[in-house]
Formats: sequence, C-alpha cells, structure tokens
Amino acid sequence: MGQMLNKQSKKLALTEMNYQEGTMLNTRSAFLNFFWAGIAKHGQTGGIVPSQKILITKMIDPIPRTYNGSIIELGAGNGALTLRLAKKCPNANIFAYEINPTLAFDSRRNLIKAGLDKRVEVIADSAKNLISDMERRRLTGVDYIISGIPLGNLGRKQALDLLDTISYALKHEGLYIQFQHSLFDRQKIREKFSRMRTVPVLLNFPPAFVYYAQK
Ligand SMILES: C[S@@+](CC[C@H](N)C(=O)[O-])C[C@H]1O[C@@H](n2cnc3c(N)ncnc32)[C@H](O)[C@@H]1O
Repeated sequence: MGQMLNKQSKKLALTEMNYQEGTMLNTRSAFLNFFWAGIAKHGQTGGIVPSQKILITKMIDPIPRTYNGSIIELGAGNGALTLRLAKKCPNANIFAYEINPTLAFDSRRNLIKAGLDKRVEVIADSAKNLISDMERRRLTGVDYIISGIPLGNLGRKQALDLLDTISYALKHEGLYIQFQHSLFDRQKIREKFSRMRTVPVLLNFPPAFVYYAQK
C-alpha cells in the first residue's frame, strides 16, 4: 500500500513538473487547487491534474497562429490551455468560462502574471449560460469552441443540452474541439455534429481523446 502511494505521488510530482513546463509558470498553488477540486468535486472537475503539454498541443493545433477573431473556451480550469492558446494566437480574443470560482481566480492570476489578461476574459460562470452571455457581449457565432468539460459526468439530457448550446454558438463552418478521458460520449457528439474526428492522446496523464467536430 505504502509503495503504491509512493508511486502515485511520484507520478503526480512528474505531472506537476510537466504542467509547469507547459504553462511556463511556477504555479504550485494553482496546481494544488486543481488537485483539490478534482478530489472534492470530482464529477464537475473530471480529473485531478490539469491537461499536459501534449494534450494542449493537440487541442489548439487546428487554430492558426494568425487567427484574429474570438475563441470560446469552456471549462478552463486553472488556465493551462488558456495560457498556451493566448500565447499561440496573439491577435485572438479569448472568452474562458469556468464554473469553479477558485479555478477561475487562479486562471486570471496566471494570465495577469503572463501579461495575457488584456485579450483573455475569464468568466466565472457555467457554460450553460453561454448564449445569454454572448448576446450580452453582442458576440454572434464564433469559429472555435474548445472544451474540457467532463461531458461523461453530466446526465444524458444535460450533456445533449450543452452540445446544443455549443452548436448554436458556433458559426456554420466553426470547429468544436473537446477532450475527454473516455469514449463514452462520442455517440452524443455524433448525434449533434455531422462531421467528427477522434484523436487519442495516450501519453497525457490520464490518457485522453480529442474530438474535432463540425455541424
Ligand atoms: C477536465 S477539467 C479541464 C481544465 C482545463 N481546461 C485543462 O485542460 O486543464 C474540466 C473543467 O471544467 C469545469 N467545468 C465543469 N462543468 C462546467 C460548466 N458547466 N461550465 C464551466 N466549467 C465547467 C471544471 O470546473 C473543470 O475546471
């Protein structure tokens, strides 16, 4: 038992190093807040560690560096992906929704530290309010929606409602990029999007699948 715990904590330490390398920030408290959210609110958080570099790279890969429109991120966590995306696309505006106020606060703090807060707005709210929030901002359809929300932990109806919201918020040719740690929800995405590609990212901890979907 002791040996097993030791192995797990070594794995976590390695993942933390990987996370810090990915975000290029020394954000130990943000990492621990995420870990705690993963334990205390596992269903909502969907994992105990933020995404690592290899998964983030796959998630943001289709978005061109020169993209200068608006990108929506759902389930931003403590900003691991948000930061990389903002660095990659210096001309884009990013709206990052995060339901957990502690993680949203960490995201904001990380963005301020990195000097990226002018183009990225972190919204501490649920993705289910996306449409009304976009209307308030006079933001019509967007080209990219990136999501880490654990669809598999939502009930079927809630997951399908969220997929409807995402589809409504996307432009006709827009791209929805979602990662999950299982393939359980692939069928739900297929029900709502006519084109979909799945890419496994087995070297992430835990291993993940990235879906690229279009209406
Ligand atoms: C698997 S984590 C991904 C975090 C981050 N994107 C990453 O890649 O490290 C999922 C995140 O979605 C957030 N979340 C869950 N349901 C949400 C909702 N309805 N609206 C906004 N965020 C949500 C959780 O709090 C959590 O931070």
